[in-house]
Amino acid sequence: MLSPLDLGWTTLKNRILMGSMHTNLEEIPGGFERAAVYFAERAKGQVGLIVTGGISPNPEGCVAAMAAKLNTEEEVKHHKLITSAVHAEGGKICMQILHTGRYGYHPKIVAPSAIQAPINFFKPKELSPEEIEKTIDDYVQCALLAQKAGYDGVEIMGSEGYLINQFIAKRTNQRQDEWGGNYENRIKFPIQIVNETRKACGENFIIIYRLSMLDLVEGGSTWSEVVQLAKEIEKAGATLINTGIGWHEARIPTIATVVPRKAFAWVTKKLKSEVNIPLIAVNRINMPDVAEEVLSEGCADMVSMARPFLADAELVLKTMEGRIDEINTCIACNQACLDHTFQMKISSCLVNPRACHETELNYIPTNNPKNIAVIGGGPAGMAYAHVAAMRGHKVDLYESSRQLGGQFNMAKIIPGKEEYAETIRYYQRMLSKYDVNILLNTKAEKQFLINKYDEIILANGVTPRKLDIEGIDHPKVLSYVDVLLHKAEVGRSVAIIGAGGIGFDVAEYLVHHGNQEEEIKTFLATWGVDHEYKHGGALKDAKIQVPAREVYLLKRSTGKHGATLGKTTGWIHKASLVANNVQMISDVTYQKIDDDGLHIVVKGEARILPIDHVIICAGQEPSRALYQELLDEGLQPTLIGGADEAVELDAKRAIHQACHLASVV
Ligand SMILES: Cc1cc2nc3c(=O)[nH]c(=O)nc-3n(C[C@H](O)[C@H](O)[C@H](O)COP(=O)(O)OP(=O)(O)OC[C@H]3O[C@@H](n4cnc5c(N)ncnc54)[C@H](O)[C@@H]3O)c2cc1C
Ligand SMILES: Cc1cc2nc3c(=O)[nH]c(=O)nc-3n(C[C@H](O)[C@H](O)[C@H](O)COP(=O)(O)O)c2cc1C
Ligand code: SF4
Repeated sequence: MLSPLDLGWTTLKNRILMGSMHTNLEEIPGGFERAAVYFAERAKGQVGLIVTGGISPNPEGCVAAMAAKLNTEEEVKHHKLITSAVHAEGGKICMQILHTGRYGYHPKIVAPSAIQAPINFFKPKELSPEEIEKTIDDYVQCALLAQKAGYDGVEIMGSEGYLINQFIAKRTNQRQDEWGGNYENRIKFPIQIVNETRKACGENFIIIYRLSMLDLVEGGSTWSEVVQLAKEIEKAGATLINTGIGWHEARIPTIATVVPRKAFAWVTKKLKSEVNIPLIAVNRINMPDVAEEVLSEGCADMVSMARPFLADAELVLKTMEGRIDEINTCIACNQACLDHTFQMKISSCLVNPRACHETELNYIPTNNPKNIAVIGGGPAGMAYAHVAAMRGHKVDLYESSRQLGGQFNMAKIIPGKEEYAETIRYYQRMLSKYDVNILLNTKAEKQFLINKYDEIILANGVTPRKLDIEGIDHPKVLSYVDVLLHKAEVGRSVAIIGAGGIGFDVAEYLVHHGNQEEEIKTFLATWGVDHEYKHGGALKDAKIQVPAREVYLLKRSTGKHGATLGKTTGWIHKASLVANNVQMISDVTYQKIDDDGLHIVVKGEARILPIDHVIICAGQEPSRALYQELLDEGLQPTLIGGADEAVELDAKRAIHQACHLASVV
């Protein structure tokens, strides 16, 4: 059988695996052609081994009706596009086989027992013993077809609460036959899949098994069960064991930005001495130094980096060439990747809109260099200046404050959003690399711009919305900018007016104490992950510090708080504020602010909140004064980012728009 040495896994380059991501390119006409270019760019970027997104071995296991599967010869030819493109760049690629079980979004779903998932409105049908045997065979046939399509191996998805995991855990497997009951019976399903796949595909085919090392749900595996399964999977013939963390229905964040870097590498390390085949650590290993730490601390033999390869296809190449400071860091926001996947949109990346759009968005050198003024050094302005300068234009970037980054300078100080500083770091480096003339502390005015530039790009952002409430000028009233940027002192009791993304972030900032020592341990304790793994699922009671302040989060509209937040992260922000006793009140009418506090009416009832401060987070307006002045001079400036459209947490649109416009200027 292949050993890590045969595969050349001796250098850092070859110890980094691009983790599996279902991007929805699998699901659209022409998607495989696009996926081929997407994967080939990553292979060219020198990643040692790539794993595709999950592909079902049969129709029942698909993520949605008619979604990607591989069980016919006809489908093999689509996959050949991917494998030949990757091999042409010298890369290696495995196809992930993922049967969703009770997580599929369609009426034909199946599971070991007919128990509906709390996150799905479809109820699964219980598999009969014959259907179980047939499903195992479907895995094997799928692996054989993958081999025929040219894949170097397969990854068998055994974690995150999908079908295999549903067999393993008592919570979802309540069968009385030979596939249920005791643990040995419950793990027969994955063992047989690996065993038969090995026999069918031969010794030199890579088989990665993604093993759920932490279920993070009640009724999940105990540590001794995890070890037992790992040993059996090794015996059955897997080449590598990859780590799976948390079922999709778990209420503990596992990949969002609030999760510290390498927060789960300890669990892979725990398994290290138990098996002889190489192990792969996962989740929030987003930069090469973090990968190095995980490897040098002996946590694993390889690391999986998934989203970091959306953010930067050349992550490994840049590392090998000593250009780590040029890596565009994944900030774990999920806004353009996982949120898109769950909205059935094509995944991309907030900080790299080219991801999964490699055939549509390209930064080709210009043969018509222009003089360009970019006004505003926030995400939109930095992204525009970067792409335009990289293409050969001469760019002056005006920034009125003393630093680049715009509102990301506020985002980066929110506990759990520290990664946003990385985007500023990346752009600073790239602007310097491509000789952008950065004019800090320089408020652009129309006289600087007239008759000097071929193009004027207004990326001058937003102005916080003013509210018309009696007492709005009272000393108790602050804006989020006063608090986050100018560090205004804030009292112990606070009302936040406006419960959009910024209101949520300000609340998170205010309830924290600012002591982030032992980051990973604090994170695990706060969310109730048992580092000592005393019970199945590794859960324990969450340990929340007494919040630093009493906070009210108010909104005018009716309905639940947090409805406008990110699809895969909104629940995390809300759970954190609930745990910190933030009082969320909707349907609020604001009456006045005075020495007694904030006077409000809630559902017809008058109340006074006796707070020390009121913080206004009531939205933003595009800054348009300079735009109007330039129009009056007969110029035709282009608005981008918040200056074009102000929608609070909207860096994805800002950067996307900037990159697209700068690619054609
Ligand atoms: C606390 C907080 C958290 C956030 N979290 C997220 C998040 O998680 N996800 C997300 O997508 N978005 C988030 N956002 C919003 C995100 O930061 C904005 O969508 C994004 O910054 C908009 O980029 P921009 O470049 O258009 O504008 P801005 O970032 O507002 O930048 C505009 C820049 O222009 C400069 N400027 C203005 N006038 C002039 C002038 N005349 N001359 C020179 N310079 C000028 C300003 O100083 C500023 O630096 C957050 C915002 C805040 C405040
Ligand atoms: C858009 C997206 C799609 C994903 N699809 C899959 C998948 O099909 N199979 C799988 O095992 N994991 C999938 N994952 C999880 C990743 O493999 C990985 O575990 C997760 O992103 C955390 O690692 P990272 O911090 O390196 O991104 C997906 C993640 C994202 C962001
Ligand atoms: S969208 Fe956000 S989480 Fe997803 S890859 Fe890009 S930076 Fe990372």
